[in-house]
Amino acid sequence: KRPAGAPDPALARKVTKVGVVGAGLMAAQIALLFARRLEVPVVLTDLDDERLTKGVGHVHAEIDGLLAKGRVSADKAARLKGLVSGSLTKDAFADADFVIEAVFEDMAVKRKVFAEVEEFVSPECVLATNTSSLSVSAMAAGLRHPGRVVGFHFFNPVAVMPLLEIVRGEATDDATLATAFATGKTLKKSAVLVKDAPAFVVNRLLTRFMGEVMAAVDEGTPLAVADHALDGLGLPMTPFTLLQLVGPAVSLHVAETLHEAFPDRYATSRGLAKLVAAGRPGVYDAAFAIDPEAEAVFSGG
Ligand code: 3HC
Repeated sequence: KRPAGAPDPALARKVTKVGVVGAGLMAAQIALLFARRLEVPVVLTDLDDERLTKGVGHVHAEIDGLLAKGRVSADKAARLKGLVSGSLTKDAFADADFVIEAVFEDMAVKRKVFAEVEEFVSPECVLATNTSSLSVSAMAAGLRHPGRVVGFHFFNPVAVMPLLEIVRGEATDDATLATAFATGKTLKKSAVLVKDAPAFVVNRLLTRFMGEVMAAVDEGTPLAVADHALDGLGLPMTPFTLLQLVGPAVSLHVAETLHEAFPDRYATSRGLAKLVAAGRPGVYDAAFAIDPEAEAVFSGG
């Protein structure tokens, strides 16, 4: 059955090579998913060799994990490793049909990335953004071919979460949208078409929920109490574990975008802002106990 709002699948173009801009954790997970499900070459790019090596290394480590668990054969693991490569320059995208960016959540950075990619790819190549909350229409504005820009929003952990938000910008054309839906299907995700609105759908709900838990801590509830208060509701993980998974900086950015758009409905947590300013990746330590130092940063003064 065709998902609501999806165009005629016959309009979809074939994807034979994928480019991923950014080699961070989310980008590496996306690269692996594309290689595993589409079985086509996937090229990651990033700003420097260190990040690139780390990103490709992360993909290889995940493939080793799949092999160890018996999820893929030794042959397939070797093939997947061969499919994923890194390049410091975007000319490696020349014959790509689908390029997805998963770089820092900053409109100017993302627009610059797409403008650069446009220099190398064919006019038909889809430019997808994994943005959590930014406007897809604004990201496409000013490009030579804005019709090929589409939102393609994954959820952490990318390998596991079934949902994919596909966002149609003002200019997105039917062939691009059809290619996005066909690709989502091959990736075995449940794709839904969402409006190009601040933070789309899922992050609007999640930010309200997380925002209230963090506000409780900002207002003096001990972090461990707030984090476990909802244990009885059967959530898959506690709010602060989820914060660590998503990353405090991404979470803060989404909250800020929503606060700007709907100031009466969204606030940003003081504690979260302090955690991000301190450069802390979360409040749990390696053994997944609340780290007193991180808790002090979040809850202090
Ligand atoms: N990367 C890859 N695979 C992972 C993983 C990770 N980080 N974490 C867990 N998995 C895999 C495990 O390996 C396991 O796979 P297997 O069945 O092949 O062994 C499977 O997921 C289940 O894991 P576990 O049994 O260890 O743990 P759980 O049953 O507790 O499930 C979870 C883990 C799926 C992450 C679950 O806790 C969950 O659903 N948490 C909520 C996640 C969520 O809400 N994500 C959305 C965040 S919002 C977002 O990302 C949007 C952005 O824009 C901010």
